[in-house]
Amino acid sequence: MELKGLVLSGGEGTRLRPITHTSAKQLVPVANKPILFYGLEALAEAGIWDVGIIVGDTEPEIRRAVGDGSAWGLRVTYIRQEAPLGLAHAVLTAEDFLGDTPFVMYLGDNLIKEGITGFVEEFKEKDVDALILLSRVAEPQRFGVAELEGNRVVRLVEKPKIPPSDLALVGAYMFRPIILDAARSIKPSWRNELEITDAIQYLIDHGYRVEAHVISGWWKDTGRLEDLLEANRMILEDLVPVCHGVIDRDSRVDGRVVVEEGAEIMGSVLRGPCIIGKGTRIIRSYIGPFTSIYHGVLVEDSEIEHSIVLENSVIRRIPGRIEDSLIGKNVEITYYHNRPKSFRFVVGDNSRVGLI
Ligand code: TTP
Repeated sequence: MELKGLVLSGGEGTRLRPITHTSAKQLVPVANKPILFYGLEALAEAGIWDVGIIVGDTEPEIRRAVGDGSAWGLRVTYIRQEAPLGLAHAVLTAEDFLGDTPFVMYLGDNLIKEGITGFVEEFKEKDVDALILLSRVAEPQRFGVAELEGNRVVRLVEKPKIPPSDLALVGAYMFRPIILDAARSIKPSWRNELEITDAIQYLIDHGYRVEAHVISGWWKDTGRLEDLLEANRMILEDLVPVCHGVIDRDSRVDGRVVVEEGAEIMGSVLRGPCIIGKGTRIIRSYIGPFTSIYHGVLVEDSEIEHSIVLENSVIRRIPGRIEDSLIGKNVEITYYHNRPKSFRFVVGDNSRVGLI
């Protein structure tokens, strides 16, 4: 059975503002690789090459990053969703692309460590109309939750106050084309979205077979800052150390550290796991565990730990340690040793600055 892939890379990303005012959240790098690329790799690995990508306002940026998909051996078709009206709406938007082929729907901001190959194989073997991925979570109230009888899904509830189980919906789903009928039949929810959980519930209620596959490895929906930092931590855990840049003799490297091409480390301490991007300069600074510094960044006389810094930003002479932070592109953070002591900010809408 040949399957198509549908990757959802539209959406508003309100929970990751201000980063998402200017950029697609799916392109935020985790361990210096855009989140979306992990999903594309997972599809390619599962043998799915015909992939539609749902895009919204950030379409140009996604197109620039992914191109025609040939870097992954994929053929990518871009599908514009006029507004982020829900996951089931995204499926309907892709109707012409999907035709009558079964498909995998993958949320472009999700990371699934074990990939989806086993899951795709299981779907191919089984005679089911939908196969959903589930993971045991500590706070099921925050997720879409499934109630099972054996492997069979009997009920799905969005963010339940009293969860029927601790099994949360993970961002990958397998569907037969009947899901299009289901998506057409449901009404928008209170938040005015066509919910995929409602479309799946429609299948269940109309006698179609929906089964679940519970994953054992970790998974992350990176829609919020803390989840993004946690995903970064998880991926960096498996880092294979390598140095393609220059580390001077006054610097020290402990643990698993990746230094990419053209990066320069001078008089600094790098304590892994951490990754330093192409052309980035680290001068008289400390980069601590679980930190990803992207391309073309300058860090001078500063300390950073457990953070993500995007491209071309400058961090200079910060007297305390920066931690648990996400710093956008082209940001400048500098400390001036002047009197009187004062703070001077030019901070975008919906930014958060913590002086601790
Ligand atoms: P969500 O994270 O549920 O939604 P969102 O991106 O609008 O974020 P927020 O809640 O912070 O405002 O979306 C999951 C994935 O699906 C994400 O990659 C965006 C994508 N998406 C679409 O492509 N179209 C849509 O209509 C929606 C709702 C999401």
